[in-house]
Amino acid sequence: MASLGVNIDHIANVREARKTFEPDPVTMALLAELGGADGITVHLREDRRHIQDRDLNLLKETVHTRLNLEMAATEEMVSKAIYIKPDMVTLVPERREEITTEGGLDVIKYKQKLKDIIQELSDKEIPVSLFIDPLQEQLESSAEIKADWIELHTGKYATTKNLARVEELSILKECTTKAKSYGLRVNAGHGLTYQNVEQIAAIEGMEELNIGHTIISRALAVGLSQAVREMKELIINPRKHI
Ligand code: PXP
Repeated sequence: MASLGVNIDHIANVREARKTFEPDPVTMALLAELGGADGITVHLREDRRHIQDRDLNLLKETVHTRLNLEMAATEEMVSKAIYIKPDMVTLVPERREEITTEGGLDVIKYKQKLKDIIQELSDKEIPVSLFIDPLQEQLESSAEIKADWIELHTGKYATTKNLARVEELSILKECTTKAKSYGLRVNAGHGLTYQNVEQIAAIEGMEELNIGHTIISRALAVGLSQAVREMKELIINPRKHI
């Protein structure tokens, strides 16, 4: 059965829209764990647009499940990972102008660089996952440079429909089986929702799904009425000593 890594970047997105103290992704990570998250995933971006260094430092102390640090393959981030020592690192491509991580890593093009980073992090006992598109040649290269995991990009599966989606699902299944045969462990994520997750979760050999946007959206939907009720109560019945 696949486990669930909850990506909490979107909580930090809301906080950073106001540059204030709430909502705090560190507190929310605890709530995600209470809800059954098997791990917490954060992406510390070069431009610090959502998760901040402070969040990462505190999460390292407070996460009791597993902390998965998503990051770009840069010297700055490798030093950060070695300092923080998360339970695992997921290397992702990063472009400043993108809204979210758009495609997988090109492991073939950056083979030597990624190999060196994997080696450097492994020397510090930090396992590494590579976020890749479900392509045979990317799998082979990931195994060649001794990644511990791959995370299969499910974006195309999530955005296609009907026959095209069936096709994407079978590609993801095939890639999972191939990757396992190469000795790689397999995670998946991106664009998974309450509507499309089950078929991915049911793939034989799938270890963990990293899911963010849909869970944070659902949290707003199921929590908003209660939040409004609480504010209304304060307005209707202000406490006397205030
Ligand atoms: N996995 C990776 C590597 C990602 O970059 C993201 C997005 O931050 C996710 C999973 C989660 O994607 P989503 O927010 O669409 O669930």
